[in-house]
Parts: sequence; structure tokens; C-alpha cells
Amino acid sequence: MGRIPQEIIDQVLDRTDIVEVISGYVNIKKAGRNFKGCCPFHDEKTPSFVVSPDKQIYHCFGCSAGGNAVGFVMRYENMEFPEALRMLAEKAGVEVPEQRADDGMGGSISAKLYEVNGLAAEYYHKLMKSRHGAAAREYLKARGMTGGTADTFMIGYSPDSWESLRKYCETKGFSPAVLRKAGLTVPSDKGRGDYDRFRKRIIFPIFNERGKIVAFGGRVMDDSLPKYINSPETPVYNKSGVLYGLNFARKSMRDKGCAVIVEGYMDVIMTHQYGVKNIVATSGTALTSRQAAMLKRYTKTAVMLFDSDQAGETASLRGLDILIEHGMEVRVAALPSGEDPDSYIKKKGREAFESVLEQAKGLFEYKLDLLIGRLGKRDVGGIVDEMLPTISKVGNAVVQSDYLKKLAERLGVHEASLRYELGKVKPDYSYRSGNESGPPSGKRASYKTGELHLLGLALTDGKRASRIREETPPGSFSEGPVKDVILRVFDLYGKGVTAREIPGRLLDEYGSDEQRRGAVVQALARAEIGGDPDKAMDDCLCYLKKERRDEKLRSLTLRLKKAQESNNGDEMRELLVKINKIHKEKVT
Ligand code: GTP
Ligand code: MN
Repeated sequence: MGRIPQEIIDQVLDRTDIVEVISGYVNIKKAGRNFKGCCPFHDEKTPSFVVSPDKQIYHCFGCSAGGNAVGFVMRYENMEFPEALRMLAEKAGVEVPEQRADDGMGGSISAKLYEVNGLAAEYYHKLMKSRHGAAAREYLKARGMTGGTADTFMIGYSPDSWESLRKYCETKGFSPAVLRKAGLTVPSDKGRGDYDRFRKRIIFPIFNERGKIVAFGGRVMDDSLPKYINSPETPVYNKSGVLYGLNFARKSMRDKGCAVIVEGYMDVIMTHQYGVKNIVATSGTALTSRQAAMLKRYTKTAVMLFDSDQAGETASLRGLDILIEHGMEVRVAALPSGEDPDSYIKKKGREAFESVLEQAKGLFEYKLDLLIGRLGKRDVGGIVDEMLPTISKVGNAVVQSDYLKKLAERLGVHEASLRYELGKVKPDYSYRSGNESGPPSGKRASYKTGELHLLGLALTDGKRASRIREETPPGSFSEGPVKDVILRVFDLYGKGVTAREIPGRLLDEYGSDEQRRGAVVQALARAEIGGDPDKAMDDCLCYLKKERRDEKLRSLTLRLKKAQESNNGDEMRELLVKINKIHKEKVT
């Protein structure tokens, strides 16, 4: 196995600045010694994602994600360690020796999934072009898709069979487990082996940003339901982190300085065929923060193109606010009733389509018109409630002022009162919907707060570490990752390693041990962002002592009860003396 040598890894990390790396993906702003922003790994509107340039780590207080630059890239780009490291190495100008090809089973699961997805896409695509795909070809032709377009997007056909894909992939050496993990097959509940997920459908491979196939959408060829089925989430497919068509649109987005956001696969594909290439689809869901962050790396302006029937739906409006939060300039265009981008460009051609885009309204005007239309101009309160959160997210103060003024004029109220109301707006009260995905609570490791804070203080300062060591006799910390880490920290200081080096050392050392890595990262974040460290240390040490004392008391009381039951006078006396002694200590 060709492992990447440690000195190369060190070199890459030395020459990489985590702040620079992360700001390529996430909008972060300086906050004291750190940088802060909205976490790309869970949906949130108040920033709890912190990047520390000193420690070269990131941490999210909301979902507990955390790690160094490589870890961030791995997670964000869905990459394995070597791939992420290579990407950073390239940016840093460090040469990484080629790894030897992997031996059979050793390959990472992501690599396997990309591979099997690629194979499946090819299989479906070839089938579409074979004599078995006549009906599919007929369908695509009726919708105006050319052969060239079908090739570009690798459109395919999944036959009317329960196991043709599975059997094909098995002959190519993929195990049923891998196929299932890729979401290509579904376990049958009768224990008859897995069956193909996609049957008798037009297949749309879903590519990630770099053009690797991560999932599939399958459409029926008639009016039956469900119209589409999609792959489930897999280790390489996270729905909220993929924009359909982005791999094809990147260049054009950069060139034109603008991204067009639509809803459907067919919208992207057909506009592409007509030569409009800076276009991506959310695939029928509200735009997520991660998708916005991805787009922002290519362009600062976006046009949301709505089908007329969905314009004004809360979900679409929320997408707009998310783009604003990422500092993008957003405009909104709407198509005539009954049309979607696919049907419109086919009917009217490229120029008419582009002029719809050019006539897009600014977000502010669009939203205000929509609200006035929906609520009526007299519902000033209702309109203000919806508009202010949007305005509050506009980063540019001049623009914000201008919006306030316009809003006041349109509604016939004083600008000053709007300004006052704006001051009260919590940026995230609008559009709260029940299905907002919070942090993945299940995976969250829980550490004892006081112990974690002490670990943080020890990690950040050698002197404090020795005081903590002196004042915490063995048994002070409860068994678990925090204790393991702090003992290791004492150890490293003892060997002369400095506070600056320790966190990186530990993160490397713990590798994929999420519990201990989590302890390191969370502890650091706590100590760096928390208040007065000396006071915190006193409080935590005191708390720790109290906890141990309470524990001791509990166990002595239990023994006392047993001694009473068995009438053991000597033992009772002895225990009572001990208990009294602890109680006396407590008072002083
Ligand atoms: P056509 O009807 O072929 O033009 O499809 P479309 O892509 O225009 O679909 P539509 O505008 O109805 O929906 C937009 C997107 O929402 C689709 O591209 C899909 O990604 C998604 N979608 C639509 N219907 C379904 C469904 O029944 N199930 C799922 N999972 N997704 C759907
Ligand atoms: Mn459509």
C-alpha cells in the first residue's frame, strides 16, 4: 500500500492556510482572533462555524464538525484522505509521489461507489442506444433531445427487469453489498436477494462538481407516478450538496459572471442544448446553504428562474434569502404561466429565453411585489415581517439603507420606524419550516462541559496545563475520551512539545478516532472563544472537585445503608466519621 509519507503531509499542512481554504467554500468573516460563518455541514442561519488561524482548525458549535484543512476538504468534497491531500498539495505547490494502484478490496468505499456508478451509467446509456431502448429513444426524441445532448449528459434507460443491472455489475466484479451501498439495488424483504432500484425509466446520472457520477434520477416515460425516483443518500451523495449540471456549467458561469438556477433535470439539459450553459438545477427542492456556497465560488450573481406556478412558494423565497446570506446578488425571473425553462426555450428559442433572464427583477422588488400581490398593500405588518429579515441579510449598508427607504415609500410608513423594527429582527425568524434539518443529534458525542473546558485550557497554554495537572489527582476526570486526551497532553508537554504544536499532533495521532478528535477540537474552540481563562479554570477545577466529592459521598452513603442493614456497628461508625469529614471540607 502506497501511503503518503508523513513529511509530505506535514509540508502540505505547513504551506496551507485553513482560512484561505475554507473561505473558498464558505463565507467567513473575522471575529476577534478567529473567523466565523454559517456551517456548511448543517442548515443554519446564525453562524456557529469557527475557523482558528492560530490552530489551523475549524469547529462547528452547532453540529460538532471539526478538524484541520484536510479534514475539511474531505468532508466538504466527499473525498478520501489521499485525494483531499493531493488537492491541497497542488494548491500549495508540493509534489506528492504517486500511490501504487490499489489491490482489489483495499480501495476506499467512495472510490468503489464512483466506479460502480460510472459502470451503471454506461450500462444504462448503452442500453438506451441498443435495440432494447427504442421506446426510450422515442420518448427523448419526442421531447426534442438530440443524440449529442443525450451523450453529453449520459442519459440512459433502465430496462423493465428486476435484476439486469445487478447481474451485469456482478459479472464485472462488484459485490451485492457495494451495489446496495450505491443505492442501485434495494434489498428485497422476502430474502430473495437485492433487486434493481431503477426499472423501465429514463435515467439521468447525477454528477458532482468534478463530473463524477454520484447518483441517479429515473423518470417514467408516461404519466404514472412517482414521476421521478432518485438514489438515496450514500457516502458519495448528499442531496443538499449537489447541484445538477454544475460540472457542465462551471466554465460558462465564470465566463458570464452569472448562474441561472432552475428546478428540473430537463430544464438544465434542454437549455444546454440550445446553448445556455450557465445553468444548474436544485432538483425540485429548496436551495441549501451548501449549494449556495458552491455557486459562490464561481460567480457572485444568480438568477432564479421560476416556473410561474411555483413562484412565490415559501421554499423558493427561502432559497433567495440563502443566496443573499452568502453575499450573492440575486435576481428573479418568472416564465409565463404554464411554461418551464425546457418548454419555453423549445417553443421560443434561445434569444427569447435570454431576454427573460435579462428582465429579471432585483430580489427586493420581486419579493415586495409578490407580497403586495399576496397580502394586499394594507397588510403593512405582514409585509414588513417578511421583508425585514431579507433586508437584514444584505451585507452592504448602503444597499440596505436604500431598500429601507424604498420599502417605506411603497408602504407609506416612516423609514425611521422600519429602521427601529429592523434592529429587532433576528435574522432567522422568517420561513421557519418544520423540516429544517438541525444538527445530526444522534452522532453528537457528549463530553462533560467542565472537563472539556479544562482540556481546552490545557491545550492552549502550558502553564495552565501544569496547574490543572497538579490540582487534579488521579480519578478526577471521568473515564472517556477527554481524560485520554488530557493525559496525552500532559505527556506531550512533558516531552517539550509546545502548545502551538500539540493540537495538530493530536489530530494526526487520533486519525479517524472521532471521539478523541472531537474532544480536541471542541475543547480548543471552547477555550479560544470562551471568556476569561483564569476564572474559567478556577470554576472548572472547583466544579470537578465538587463532583468527585459528591460521588464519594454517594458511595459512602450507600455503604452506610448496607452496614445499617447488617447491623455492623464498627463499620457504621467508621463510615460516619468519613462522611462527616467530607461534609466539613465542603463548608470551608
Ligand atoms: P419533466 O416533467 O420531464 O419536464 O421533468 P422536470 O425535470 O421538468 O420536472 P419538474 O419540473 O416536475 O420537477 C423538477 C424536479 O423536481 C425534477 O427534475 C426532479 O429532480 C424533482 N422531482 C419532480 N418530481 C419528482 C418526484 O416525483 N420524485 C422526486 N424524488 N423528485 C421529483
Ligand atoms: Mn419540465
